Amino acid sequence: MAARHLLQVLMLLAYSLPLSQCAPGSGRVELPSLLDATLDELQSGLNAGHFTSVDLIRAYTARIDEVNSRLHAVNEINPDAVSIAAHHDALRYSGNLIGPLHGIPVVIKDNIGTADKMNNTAGSYALLGAEIPEDSTVARKLREAGAIILGKANLAQWSGARGDITQGWSAYGGQCIGAYYPDMDPDGSSSGSGTAASVGLAWAALGTDTTGSIADPSSKHNLVGIKPTMGLTSRYLVVPISEHQDTVGPMARTVKDAAYLLSAIAGSDEHDNYTSASPFGDQVPDYVAACKGKGLHGRRIGVPRHMVQLGPNKPSDYMLGIFDSAVDVLRAQGAEVIDDIILPGAADLLNSKYSPFVTGPDIMANIPRYFSQLKTNPNNITTMVQLREFIQNDAREGYPEKNTSSWDRGISRGYDNTSPVWWGNYTAQAELAGPQGIAGAVKKYSLDAIVLPTEYLSKLAAPLGNPVISVPVGRTPDDTPLEKNEFGTLNIKGPNQPFGLGFTGARFSEEVLFEIAYAFEQATMVRRTIIPYIQPKTELKDIVGKRQDTNGNLEL
Ligand SMILES: *[C@@H]1O[C@H](CO)[C@@H](O)[C@H](O)[C@H]1NC(C)=O
Ligand SMILES: *[C@@H]1O[C@H](CO)[C@@H](O)[C@H](O)[C@H]1NC(C)=O
Ligand SMILES: *[C@@H]1O[C@H](CO)[C@@H](O)[C@H](O)[C@H]1NC(C)=O
Ligand SMILES: *[C@@H]1O[C@H](CO)[C@@H](O)[C@H](O)[C@H]1NC(C)=O
Ligand SMILES: *[C@@H]1O[C@H](CO)[C@@H](O)[C@H](O)[C@H]1NC(C)=O
Repeated sequence: MAARHLLQVLMLLAYSLPLSQCAPGSGRVELPSLLDATLDELQSGLNAGHFTSVDLIRAYTARIDEVNSRLHAVNEINPDAVSIAAHHDALRYSGNLIGPLHGIPVVIKDNIGTADKMNNTAGSYALLGAEIPEDSTVARKLREAGAIILGKANLAQWSGARGDITQGWSAYGGQCIGAYYPDMDPDGSSSGSGTAASVGLAWAALGTDTTGSIADPSSKHNLVGIKPTMGLTSRYLVVPISEHQDTVGPMARTVKDAAYLLSAIAGSDEHDNYTSASPFGDQVPDYVAACKGKGLHGRRIGVPRHMVQLGPNKPSDYMLGIFDSAVDVLRAQGAEVIDDIILPGAADLLNSKYSPFVTGPDIMANIPRYFSQLKTNPNNITTMVQLREFIQNDAREGYPEKNTSSWDRGISRGYDNTSPVWWGNYTAQAELAGPQGIAGAVKKYSLDAIVLPTEYLSKLAAPLGNPVISVPVGRTPDDTPLEKNEFGTLNIKGPNQPFGLGFTGARFSEEVLFEIAYAFEQATMVRRTIIPYIQPKTELKDIVGKRQDTNGNLEL
């Protein structure tokens, strides 16, 4: 009781003292716009007492309520978010900040486990009500950095690995769409993380990536996304696809914000032994410190132009024009551009010659392993055959229109990643992605980074877990026609569609990539020129200073 009383007094102080000097409409304090608010802006407003973390939770929750019935970006809101925020506010006013993300609301993809009142469904009823023994390591680290996990973001169900389903659709979360033109295909599989971060439903989001699921939607949602090197962030208690490729990473609105988020979650973990490959252990580089100065100066950047013509999707002339201007910016900022380099393994990688035979058998081993880690498993699922049976027989799972073709192939193949057949494909692919791919080019041309429009880098970087960072670079023209996806439901192309510039490099080269990406971002600042077509209206001024009744409800 005493503690609670103290908290109320502190909250009263928080509301009465500083706010009396900056009542809404007084014009004396400019509150940050939640569409674009950065960590530095939020922290300075919190520290100055212009608003509280409770205000932020209320504002972001109101924004989710405004748009979620259309965008389906958020699957669940943390019922404890307000009380956690009140606790963080009390700590702040007593001078005890937990970490750099103190009191800042974040949403995380609904395959990243939390041991709280929220579920971890991967978008499926098969996991609704399933409890895990503790927080996933990245969720724990977020909380240790002071972040408030506000909600779980929708995703392409099972991170897109179940079968032929539309991007951003999950049985549990519905059809997520993007916010930049009508019925925008949200890309994926971190679709809800992309939409939520892009229209300001939280400060930033976490996604997961196996073959492009962070970098590609970051590109399409006008975000800075970083797919970290596989092994830099732990996958413990994250619903998996592939132990050899999965990685958890930030989707944010600025390079520096992505750096804050990556610094919070990176580090080795005894529960994920792939993190022992990291040269850093727990002493990860200071990625925030990398976000300053002339990071492009003297950098050698390779441009494998041939890659954009190799895969099934060719770029428009318009996109190539924007890309050429971006390369000019790199030069103007002091980089040495090594143009038209050739990556001999790229064609087979872009056409996925081996990847289904690598990630497919990984699923067969890794999803059952996740089920075996559950504390409660309401549907008693332990095998892929049982999981498929659940999906095919539960009407909510949309079968057969949304089928299980990936799992069907995996089950009929009859082996997992312990088979010698698996190793043949893995080593063949590793040769293409390594010596004939990124590592080979980095060595041959002494490169700091390789640059392309983001969507052409993901399949190159996936097999050996190389990092990719995507920075907003442009958008399609207003007269771009809408083009339907293969199901005829969403528009896969359209006007005002953002796209990013992607940088990749050697494994664990994030520090250099942040320096480069930050310098490019500062020289261009494209994000704020691309405006979403759907966006919520609630701002901090609508929340701050409004009188509250004794239950903490706003009296408007
Ligand atoms: C988690 O799922 C259960 C159903 O099993 C539901 O009662 C509960 O409200 C869900 N949690 C949240 C935060 O939505
Ligand atoms: C990593 O951990 C898994 C499960 O805990 C174990 O099966 C595997 O052998 C370990 N691998 C290495 C290289 O230690
Ligand atoms: C799961 O197993 C438990 C214990 O055997 C049983 O009580 C429960 O009914 C089972 N649930 C389902 C959905 O089969
Ligand atoms: C799954 O759905 C896709 C798209 O509708 C279709 O092309 C494919 O044949 C289906 N596969 C199976 C095994 O049902
Ligand atoms: C890849 O796997 C397929 C079957 O699953 C097999 O037929 C093929 O030989 C493998 N490729 C290599 C290079 O080992």
